[in-house]
Amino acid sequence: MAKIIKKLQNTKKLKLSSQKWLLRQMNDEYTQKAKAEGFRSRASYKIIEIDEKFKIFKKNKIIVDLGAAPGGWSQYALSKVGENNIIAIDLLEIEKIIGVNFLQLDFFEENSHQIIINELKKIPYNKYGKCNVVMSDMAANTTGDKKTDHLRIINLVEESIELAIKILKHNGIFIAKIFQGGSSDEIIKNLKNHFLTVKYFKPKSSRKDSSETYLIAQGFNSKYEKLNAIKKSKN
Ligand SMILES: C[S@@+](CC[C@H](N)C(=O)[O-])C[C@H]1O[C@@H](n2cnc3c(N)ncnc32)[C@H](O)[C@@H]1O
Repeated sequence: MAKIIKKLQNTKKLKLSSQKWLLRQMNDEYTQKAKAEGFRSRASYKIIEIDEKFKIFKKNKIIVDLGAAPGGWSQYALSKVGENNIIAIDLLEIEKIIGVNFLQLDFFEENSHQIIINELKKIPYNKYGKCNVVMSDMAANTTGDKKTDHLRIINLVEESIELAIKILKHNGIFIAKIFQGGSSDEIIKNLKNHFLTVKYFKPKSSRKDSSETYLIAQGFNSKYEKLNAIKKSKN
């Protein structure tokens, strides 16, 4: 506690709301766990829970991590898929993670998809620039205006789906942070056109007072295979 008070005294210039956030962050179970276990962010536990439930990562699978800073998701994915199989991007720079190919890049930049594809093509035996998992934990800075904030998030998700459709391999997986409430129906409808299953999942490590949740879409392009198999079995 003394440590926390000292840190807060050093942050006198921060607004009260920021001080409260800092205090909560420092007291948080997952923040402390991340520190003890060598993860860069408490966000690591969200992807760990997602992986435990949906079995996302396997050795040598190729992963694209959108909104990767400071690197918690990439660190965990690396421990499962092995080195040189992850392309991670963020607006912010991160401290290097050996075995992860990180690019400081705005996902909304005109050429961002092509830049990611070019990096994917550099992975051995991956000349078409494809991957097995696209995961996005991207969150736009909030403006305070609920409508604008929601639109920004929806934009990020839509843009990441567009990329996922271009680069996912057959049976690939798409994961994206989304905020509950608001117009996500179109997004779900779109995902259901391309994936076998689409589910919402809120990890325990996601703060209860946050409307954040995750979309987990599995079985890219295998929806019609399953329908055909059912049809065949009926004949
Ligand atoms: C919640 S953090 C991600 C935490 C990360 N998954 C981890 O485990 O450490 C969200 C990130 O999204 C990034 N972001 C937001 N908009 C972006 C954009 N247009 N392009 C790239 N990154 C973006 C932010 O810079 C921020 O670092």
